[in-house]
Amino acid sequence: SASEKGAYEHYMLKEIDEQPAVMRALQQVYLNADGTVEIDDEMLTAIKNSERIYVVAAGTSYHAGLVGRELFEKIAQVPTEVHVASEFAYNPPLLAEKPFFIFLSQSGETADSREVLKRVNEWNYPSLTITNVPNSTLSREASYTMLLHAGPEIAVASTKAYTAQVAVEAILAKAIGQMKGLQKAIEFDLKKELTLVANAMQIMVDEKYNMEMLADEYLKTTRNAFYIGRGIDYDVAIEAALKLKEISYIQTEGFASGELKHGTIALIEEGTPVIAIITNELTAAHTRSNVQEVIARGANVIRIVMDSLSQDQDQIVIPEVHPLLTPLVSIIPAQLLAYYASKNRGYDVDKPRNLAKSVTVE
Ligand code: G6P
Repeated sequence: SASEKGAYEHYMLKEIDEQPAVMRALQQVYLNADGTVEIDDEMLTAIKNSERIYVVAAGTSYHAGLVGRELFEKIAQVPTEVHVASEFAYNPPLLAEKPFFIFLSQSGETADSREVLKRVNEWNYPSLTITNVPNSTLSREASYTMLLHAGPEIAVASTKAYTAQVAVEAILAKAIGQMKGLQKAIEFDLKKELTLVANAMQIMVDEKYNMEMLADEYLKTTRNAFYIGRGIDYDVAIEAALKLKEISYIQTEGFASGELKHGTIALIEEGTPVIAIITNELTAAHTRSNVQEVIARGANVIRIVMDSLSQDQDQIVIPEVHPLLTPLVSIIPAQLLAYYASKNRGYDVDKPRNLAKSVTVE
């Protein structure tokens, strides 16, 4: 069955490998033959009639929400806020008059998110849960559900659920924009773009040996590490940092690369690993100059760069995909670096200490 690991040593590696297939499954489920999106009209109307989307989630799902904001704002032109569920529950922000809530949750059972949904229902606001588990609590209690179709995710460190969440958000953003008649949404060809993504993902998962070597060289003994990026690459940097820290126990933080000089650069020493993600042509030069600044202070830098922006010395080159979909591909080397860093250090990759797959207490 899909939840057996077969020849794989760990579920995490199996789940990393499944990501191209999940992209294809999502195309099958949500896209019509003509490339338009098939989603409940009543829900789309509810979103269209709202003034602002509030994404609420925890952990990796929260990080998928950060990418979702880019998609909802840039493709569907809906102002979007993303909130950590445990923060929102007891300190909600000042809400727009007509909010629409999106709960992102692999398990559909996270207590922090359930607490927020309880309040949203008391306030009578419409909501959507995007989850991997049909009939989960968050699915049952929200007004609408979209499923991730990622298959069971067993490893505590979430991988394929993150990329499935981002892809479903892209599909939803297109559907909203399509309903609003926005040219940008109509032209956002997900049949083509998600096919390119699936192919690019496949190329990245096939680079395991290279990732294992890099993990060995850069991450074997270090106590700390940094991921840096700008814009959508910063969103990915935060998720990449969580992946590495949660299974390798290397203290890792994701930073906006422009913020380094305002404090974090003080932490860079001889040999500190800094992993830079560069997929945006507008900011690539800026991030590269931040890379030079940390190299000057002794950092050991790994660069994850989109093909068209790559240079000779970049260690990880990701194939070209749509600029708003790069997280689907740039996260894969980061997942693999985390996997091999944890494995090389002799840790239990699938069951890191102190963590649970689904956290049903606040
Ligand atoms: C736990 C898991 C994380 C996950 C988070 C949110 O902390 O260890 O991997 O991202 O819960 O879970 P959810 O099921 O709501 O996505």
